[in-house]
Amino acid sequence: MTAKLLFQLDTDAMPSVFDRVVAIDGGADHVFAQGGVRAEQVGKLVEGAIYTRGPKEKRFTAFFVGGSDLAAAEAVFAAIGERYFGGFRVSAMLDANGCNSTAAAAVALIGRAVPLAGARAVVLAGTGPVGRRAAAMLALEGAAVAITGRQAARTEAAAAAIEARFGVRVAAIEAADGAARARAVSGADVIFAAGAAGQGLIAEADWRGARGLRVVADCNPEPPLGVGGIAASDKGKDYGGVLTFGALGIGGLKLKLHRACVGQLFERNDRMLDAAEILALAKEIA
Ligand SMILES: NC(=O)c1ccc[n+]([C@@H]2O[C@H](COP(=O)([O-])OP(=O)(O)OC[C@H]3O[C@@H](n4cnc5c(N)ncnc54)[C@H](OP(=O)(O)O)[C@@H]3O)[C@@H](O)[C@H]2O)c1
Repeated sequence: MTAKLLFQLDTDAMPSVFDRVVAIDGGADHVFAQGGVRAEQVGKLVEGAIYTRGPKEKRFTAFFVGGSDLAAAEAVFAAIGERYFGGFRVSAMLDANGCNSTAAAAVALIGRAVPLAGARAVVLAGTGPVGRRAAAMLALEGAAVAITGRQAARTEAAAAAIEARFGVRVAAIEAADGAARARAVSGADVIFAAGAAGQGLIAEADWRGARGLRVVADCNPEPPLGVGGIAASDKGKDYGGVLTFGALGIGGLKLKLHRACVGQLFERNDRMLDAAEILALAKEIA
């Protein structure tokens, strides 16, 4: 039996332990984790992966690209693809800070709860990896999306990056504090909180009883949660007509999805798993 080898390329100095554990649980026999990886360095890594096994065994080698800098990880992922030619390729997955698997799991759960086409969605703290991917996926599902961030320039840069990568426009709202974030979510059908762990973004009073609001999702697992008045374990809990999803409620599907994606890498040698592919799988298994 040919060993399944996963090369975990992380743009951070210390490669993610979380990603390594899930890689093993997802079916890799050996995970070789490399930190501090830059796009210009991938040539040798790709050569080592594509020339070492015959056509039938190439599917047992794969890349996983991670790290907290989404733009750097996207560049690494693109550089890998650029080095491939003909049958000389192996499957690869991009999941910087869990951006694709977390956002896809949450969007799939939200999409089962309410129709996303035409919905107004606000992604709070939508400038990080998870928020950017969530905003893109919600927009691709047909929602009118706005992201917030504490600084206008950073927020507009995130919206521009989403448009450049996915061809969808999302509005950028500068919201420096809780009061500004509360104004930003007014009138939303869907609130998606994607703030850093342990950072409260809006209070319970900012969303309870809001007219038209259908779903609140919050990816932050550490207290204080991003959204006051929900529980991290909420998974479609009904608060007077508003369904809530907390980080642990989302996290179960995220882990299942992340593992399933790793498993898919070893089924063929030509899979490139990024936002669209991972969202499609999330919708299948949600
Ligand atoms: N549930 C799961 O399975 C799962 C999996 C992975 C990640 N997560 C969680 O998902 C969330 C998003 O992950 P990420 O990697 O995208 O996060 P991140 O990059 O660490 O942070 C996201 C954004 O939070 C904002 N922020 C930082 N400090 C803040 C503060 N003091 N007040 C207000 N906003 C602040 C920043 O936006 P601005 O500076 O632009 O305002 C930042 O871009 C995190 O809480 C993470 O723990 C959950």
